[in-house]
Amino acid sequence: MEWLGKNETASVARLIEWLKMPSISTDPAYAKDVRKAAEWAHEQLKGLGLDSRIVEVGNPAGTGHPIVLAHSTPSPDYKGPHVLFYGHYDVQPVDPIELWESPPFEPVMKPAVKGGPGERIVARGAVDDKGQVMTFIEAIRAWKETTGHATGGAKFTVLLEGEEESGSVSLPGFVKEHQRALSECDVCLISDTGMLGRGKPAITYGVRGLAYTEITLHAANQDLHSGLWGGRCPNPITELTKVLSKLWDKKRRVTIPGFYDDVIPLSKKERKNWHALKFDAKAALRQIGLKKEADVGEHGYTAMEREWGRPTAEINGIWGGYTGKGAKTVIAAKASAKVSFRLVADQDPGKITKAFFKWCKEHTPEGCRWELNDHHGGFGVTVPIDSPYLKAAEKALKTATGKSAALIKSGGSIPVAGLLKSELGIDTIFMGFGLDDDRVHSPNEKFEVDCFRIGAKAHAAFIGELVAGHGTDRE
Ligand code: BES
Ligand code: MN
Ligand code: MN
Repeated sequence: MEWLGKNETASVARLIEWLKMPSISTDPAYAKDVRKAAEWAHEQLKGLGLDSRIVEVGNPAGTGHPIVLAHSTPSPDYKGPHVLFYGHYDVQPVDPIELWESPPFEPVMKPAVKGGPGERIVARGAVDDKGQVMTFIEAIRAWKETTGHATGGAKFTVLLEGEEESGSVSLPGFVKEHQRALSECDVCLISDTGMLGRGKPAITYGVRGLAYTEITLHAANQDLHSGLWGGRCPNPITELTKVLSKLWDKKRRVTIPGFYDDVIPLSKKERKNWHALKFDAKAALRQIGLKKEADVGEHGYTAMEREWGRPTAEINGIWGGYTGKGAKTVIAAKASAKVSFRLVADQDPGKITKAFFKWCKEHTPEGCRWELNDHHGGFGVTVPIDSPYLKAAEKALKTATGKSAALIKSGGSIPVAGLLKSELGIDTIFMGFGLDDDRVHSPNEKFEVDCFRIGAKAHAAFIGELVAGHGTDRE
């Protein structure tokens, strides 16, 4: 769509305005900034003629970060599906701050590097997910500017969440409360995933689930002198690491009983299709400073199969004792770890957490006791690849890029998708525009202008498909 090309500078400038707001959802110190980012999006949608409002959420009421909820007014002759566009306006924390080349909330444009990244917007949230949400907002703006009709007359509900990066804890309550309105939607559209590579559009047809826990092992009721007490009583750090080392067997399979019960084995066909995508696992390792020997994981599976189709257990953080400068001879009273599981197929995060806690208890080191906390979780999803909605998205990507979209999966998690499926039976189309080297959740996160361009065009073309009456099972 011509309008997008001509107005790209202004579109990017609007994104930059949004990126300046430090909407870090996990840290209460930023609650005001999170709200500001919600209000900003709400104003944008209102300005585009959508009926938008800010919904307070949480338990107790109002303690969560607000949700922006907007509805378009479809044109009377609109026959396409009712699409729920979901995105999140919250971002991850910025640490380690010293590794940022420019301040995370002072977005900068960087020129293309030969053989490296293209022209890009560098800021926290650039690709995850404000930049991707903006590709949709600018697409509906383009339709409004060229036809006078918000969203071109297509029927949209827009839901922007402010807690995705902190586990979507208020979302189940919100979905229950708005069940009637939300269940009127035919399909969900999310732009919060990646492409197969530069200029290689993709539709993600599945994301993994997640179960996130925090465990603490306690021993003595006080820190102890390691000379006087070492060898006389349990050291919780030593014991915790010994227990956690038993989480995997020699083949790097997770040892928790029942862990694989609900995992559906990968089909030959799926493995073949993935193989045909010619993913270069070694090149990907090289990009993060690793050699080919580092291609490790569950035996019997390729890197891509392990990321897209197999569950994992990971220690995301571990601490205890003295970690300051110099040396201190101490045996700490406790040691902790954050342990999470990526899940596939029908694995239930609640069941997995329960099984892990049971396993912990069965492995309680002598003289120690556990404190076990469940942080959050979400089901994984796999969506049908032959739905009319997915076909409409494929056509849109073809229009936007001239290329056929690859069908890929992702190892990441987007809790809303599982929730919409289990609560309302709604499938999701993941049409994302990120790249592998976007440094998602890391210092110097970026979104390439070319990806922004493709995203905006693809969303505009998707709306075109809807308005033309495609992408409906009532066709
Ligand atoms: N957008 C990501 C997930 C993602 C990234 C999916 C790249 C596919 C490709 C999302 O914002 C995210 O980070 N999700 C968290 C979920 C968690 C905090 C519940 C994740 O996957 O760790
Ligand atoms: Mn995201
Ligand atoms: Mn994220």
